[in-house]
Amino acid sequence: MLQGTTIILGVSGGIAVYKAVELLRLLTKAGADVHVVMTQNAQEFMTPLTFQALSGNQVHTDLFNLHQEQEIGHISLADRADLFILAPATANLIGKIAHGLADDLLTTSVMATKAPLLVVPAMNSNMYENPLYLRNEKLLVDSGFHVMEPATGELACGWRGKGKLPAPEQIFEAALSVLATKDLLGCQLLVTAGPTREEIDPVRYLSNYSSGKMGFAIAAVASRRGASVTLVSGPTDLTVPSGVKCVPVCSAEEMRAAVLAEFSAAEVVIKSAAVADYRPVKRAEQKMKKQADELTLPLEKNPDILAELGEQKGERVLVGFAAETERLLAHAADKLKRKNLDLIVANDVSKEGAGFNVDTNIVRFLHANGEVEGFDLMTKEQVAEQLLNRVRLLWQAAQHKIG
Ligand code: PMT
Repeated sequence: MLQGTTIILGVSGGIAVYKAVELLRLLTKAGADVHVVMTQNAQEFMTPLTFQALSGNQVHTDLFNLHQEQEIGHISLADRADLFILAPATANLIGKIAHGLADDLLTTSVMATKAPLLVVPAMNSNMYENPLYLRNEKLLVDSGFHVMEPATGELACGWRGKGKLPAPEQIFEAALSVLATKDLLGCQLLVTAGPTREEIDPVRYLSNYSSGKMGFAIAAVASRRGASVTLVSGPTDLTVPSGVKCVPVCSAEEMRAAVLAEFSAAEVVIKSAAVADYRPVKRAEQKMKKQADELTLPLEKNPDILAELGEQKGERVLVGFAAETERLLAHAADKLKRKNLDLIVANDVSKEGAGFNVDTNIVRFLHANGEVEGFDLMTKEQVAEQLLNRVRLLWQAAQHKIG
C-alpha cells in the first residue's frame, strides 16, 4: 500500500510516544520507508533504539551529529520525504513550527521539507484549550498543514478531556488520506455493507457470514480519495472509517428504507451488502419453545433492493456484487442485466481467500458492455482501489452527460 513511499515520523516529548511506535509498525508493515526524528525530550520517554529496530533506519536525534549528517543529511532527508508526520506533537513543537522557529533537528527538518505535513497534537486538555495554543494551531491549518483533532478520554495526567493522541490506526488512516490522490472529490457515493438479520423471535435470526469488510474497505478508500461517502451497514464489529457517514441497519427492510432515503443524493451506488433473500413470514413475539422434532419455518421474499434501484437509476452509476458458489460468470452476467447495472463484482465465495469474513478477495469485474476483467488474490482494500478506478471513469462519463 505504501511501497516506494518515504515518510519522516517526527516524535516530540510526551507520554504518548509509545503510540508512535505502533504507528511506525503500521507504516512499515504497509511498505513505507520510515525515518524517525526524535526531539531531546522524546528521548526521555523512549530510547531511539526501539524506533531504529522497527524502522530499520538510523534514528535522527541531533542537528550537530557529524556522523548522522554524513550518513544522510537532514536537508536531503526532508527533501526526499513524501509525507512528514508529527506524532505526538506537543504544544511546544506546534508553537515553534507555527512561528517558523528551527532550533533543533526536528523543527529544522520541518522547515526544510516540501512534503505534506500531518500534525497530530497530544497534550493536557487545558493546554489544548489555551487560546495561545489554539492560535498556533490555526496558523498551521491556515498554512495548509493537516492537523488532526485529538481524542477525548482519560489523559496521562489523570484528567479527563480532549488532548489524547488518536489511536495509531486513525493516524495511519489520516496519513493514507493525505497521500491519496483526490480523484473522487465531489462524488456522492452510497455504499452498502455487511449482512442483514431477519428476526425469527426475540433471540434468534436468519443471516449470513458477511463481516462488512468488503463494503467498509470501499467506503474507506473512496473517502480517502475525496468522495463524500454514506455507508449503510448491517450489523458488524468494524470501526466506521473517518469522514464516512454511517447509517446502521439490521433487516433487509431497514436497509431498503435507508438506501432509498439516501438514493436521490447519490451519484454512485455500490451494493456490496449480503442481503437476506428471505425472512420469516411472522416474527414470534416471545421466544419460541422447543416442541416437535421438526419445525417448518415459513419464509417470504425480501425486496430486491438493487433491482429496485436499477429501475430508478437515471444517470447514476450502479454497481452490484454477486456472491456465487457455481457458474460464477453466468450468474453474475444475469444479475448485471436483470438489475440494470453498470458493473458487477463477481466473487466465487467457495474459493479460499475469497468472499465472506476474510481480508482478501478474488474478483472478476463484468461491465455492461460485455467486457470481463479477472484479478488474482488481492486485499479487500486493493479490490476497492481497482473497483473505484473503474467507478471514477463511469462517474466522470455520467457527469459529462448531465453537464
Ligand atoms: O462482508 P465480507 O465478509 O467482506 O464479504 C464480502 C461479500 C462476500 C459479502 C461481498 O464480496 C459480496 O459478494 N456481496 C454481495 C453478496 C450478495 O448478497 O450477493 P447476491 O448475489 O445474493 O446479490 C447480488 C446483488 O444484489 C448484491 O449487490 C446485493 O447487495 C443485492 N441484493 C441482493 C438481494 C436483495 N434482496 N437485495 C439486494 O440489493
